[in-house]
Amino acid sequence: MIIQAGNIHKSFGSLEVLKGIDLEVRKGEVLAIVGASGAGKTTLLQILGTLATPDEGSLVIDGTTVFDGSGRSLKGDALAAFRGRRIGFVFQAHHLLPEFNAVENVMIPALIAGRGETAAREDALRLLELTGLSHRLSHKPSELSGGEQQRVAIARALVNSPAVLFADEPTGNLDSATKQEIHRLFFDLRDTLGQTTVIVTHDPELAGICDRRLEMKDGCIL
Ligand SMILES: Nc1ncnc2c1ncn2[C@@H]1O[C@H](COP(=O)(O)OP(=O)(O)OP(=O)(O)O)[C@@H](O)[C@H]1O
Ligand SMILES: [Mg+2]
Repeated sequence: MIIQAGNIHKSFGSLEVLKGIDLEVRKGEVLAIVGASGAGKTTLLQILGTLATPDEGSLVIDGTTVFDGSGRSLKGDALAAFRGRRIGFVFQAHHLLPEFNAVENVMIPALIAGRGETAAREDALRLLELTGLSHRLSHKPSELSGGEQQRVAIARALVNSPAVLFADEPTGNLDSATKQEIHRLFFDLRDTLGQTTVIVTHDPELAGICDRRLEMKDGCIL
């Protein structure tokens, strides 16, 4: 298992948002998490992606214990380094840096992780080819379409070969044809890289073609 999460609880004040989530994800699986607005999907994804801390529960990612269920966890620099090297994120908005072109945007997380510039550039070029953007390498985000921007964001999320790619409504801002192309890309990445991916989506079509679909309701998995 790439992800093993047990009994994850999270509250904001008196609002109990996650009520004991158990979840396992296999290597190479594309998992969809669906459910009504407010069900707790983003909160769960942020905890699985180590961006947020649960009040209770355990999380093991690719053999590393992130939270052990008794309050002990990776912290500070160790947590940030783990997240930078082992976790990739794609959000609804691309969050690309406007001053940098496509290759540079993809290279940045590799440089932050301490990889040399030559290796970072090679990996960025390889991933931009895989995501279908070889003809847009020196374009800045403002010179790219929404779908192209999201392809750069996906390449960037993959540049450090993460154990898991987390995507929160990655095609929420796109038209339906572009949406379908990006959906196909997630499965291409599974087939070519063996990429494990967890996608939160309101899109029934995407959820329907994923390897597995989990539905959340009121902080629980149905
Ligand atoms: N930082 C926070 N502080 C307080 N309440 C929060 C916080 N983050 C989320 N919540 C609340 O937790 C609940 C679940 O939010 P979450 O963002 O996980 O839902 P979601 O399933 O992703 O919904 P959507 O489909 O609309 O994105 C909501 O009621 C929300 O208002
Ligand atoms: Mg959400």
